[in-house]
Amino acid sequence: MISKYVQPCPITFGRGALGQLPALLEEAGVCRPLIITDRGVAAAGLLARTERLLAAGGVSYTSYDAMLPDTPDYCCTQAAQQAAEFGADGVIGLGGGSCMDAAKAVSVLCANREQTITQLITGTPFRQKPLPSILIPTTAGTGSESTIFAVVSCSEDGRKRSLFTYASMGVLDPELTVDLPPEVTAYTGMDALAHAVEAYTSVRPNPQSDLLSLDAIRRIAAWLPAACREGQNMQARENLCLASNFAGIAFNNSATHIGHAMAHAMGAILHLSHGIACAWDVPEVLYLMARYLPEKARQIGCALGIVPAQELSGEELGEVLRRHVHRFMKEIGIPTCAALGIDEEKLASCGDYAVSEKLRGLCGAPVTNGEIRQALVNCARNYR
Ligand SMILES: [Fe+2]
Repeated sequence: MISKYVQPCPITFGRGALGQLPALLEEAGVCRPLIITDRGVAAAGLLARTERLLAAGGVSYTSYDAMLPDTPDYCCTQAAQQAAEFGADGVIGLGGGSCMDAAKAVSVLCANREQTITQLITGTPFRQKPLPSILIPTTAGTGSESTIFAVVSCSEDGRKRSLFTYASMGVLDPELTVDLPPEVTAYTGMDALAHAVEAYTSVRPNPQSDLLSLDAIRRIAAWLPAACREGQNMQARENLCLASNFAGIAFNNSATHIGHAMAHAMGAILHLSHGIACAWDVPEVLYLMARYLPEKARQIGCALGIVPAQELSGEELGEVLRRHVHRFMKEIGIPTCAALGIDEEKLASCGDYAVSEKLRGLCGAPVTNGEIRQALVNCARNYR
């Protein structure tokens, strides 16, 4: 079979890697960066830490700290305006997926000022090469530092849309994640798990993404509970940073599919955080994959730390995997749907959006629309 995989941007990884930032900016030819971050990252002191580093390195910068969850298009426009007024020649994305995706989109906007963000996310190609960008994740979930698209929420129709572009470099410093609260650690870790599970079962697998997906699943299974219990556990934080990055590279090359179609629907209609929505649907995706792709599901089971008996039918294997992930979710404190006031009816209301989501077609198994609708309802029915 012919498969294709891309090589994403270089990553500087390790404890204290943030300290390399002035040298990396120089390498990228950036003298006046715009930093894009959000209020939470600023409140945690990570913006000030980054600004001190730049000041000590003699780098002039300006900071936009008002990025909102899910990267609204108007925030990208505001940040690009600030960059233009400052004369920025590069963009730093500091934060979770929203800030990193914004940095990628803004680096395109800054170099293509005649185009609007709406045009860019609805498929109008851009002509000028984006400004250099350096992405610095402060969570371990999205893998956005290594993905080749920026996901932006379109204010015209509320949908998430992708702009194809990638960062110049990434800085993966586990020390930036040690103060994340347990619930954020859990939600972002489950997002990374969803990326890995879906990449491994997508319609276009390849040897590289298979390898990285299974490795990410192993690291998350082994280290996410420890990181949730003791945030300062550096070994756990290192492993989760790598897992998030590897899962990001994996789904770059293959794809996410029905789990993310469901999660996007839950985000748009029920305004749920992406990580919680992904957490709820991972067991249901696994259940369906076990029925259609039992050998792949068995490999995922092994990576999760269980060795399913060979004689299990696809249906039985699906039940085993679903129960196992539900126990894992309890251990790391993922709330039930009922605890957040989400009932089966509300989940059912996400069905039309989920089955019409583009990602839905990238599943490696012939899952039906009816099964996706049932999987949504099952998030509440099966996880109590
Ligand atoms: Fe995700």
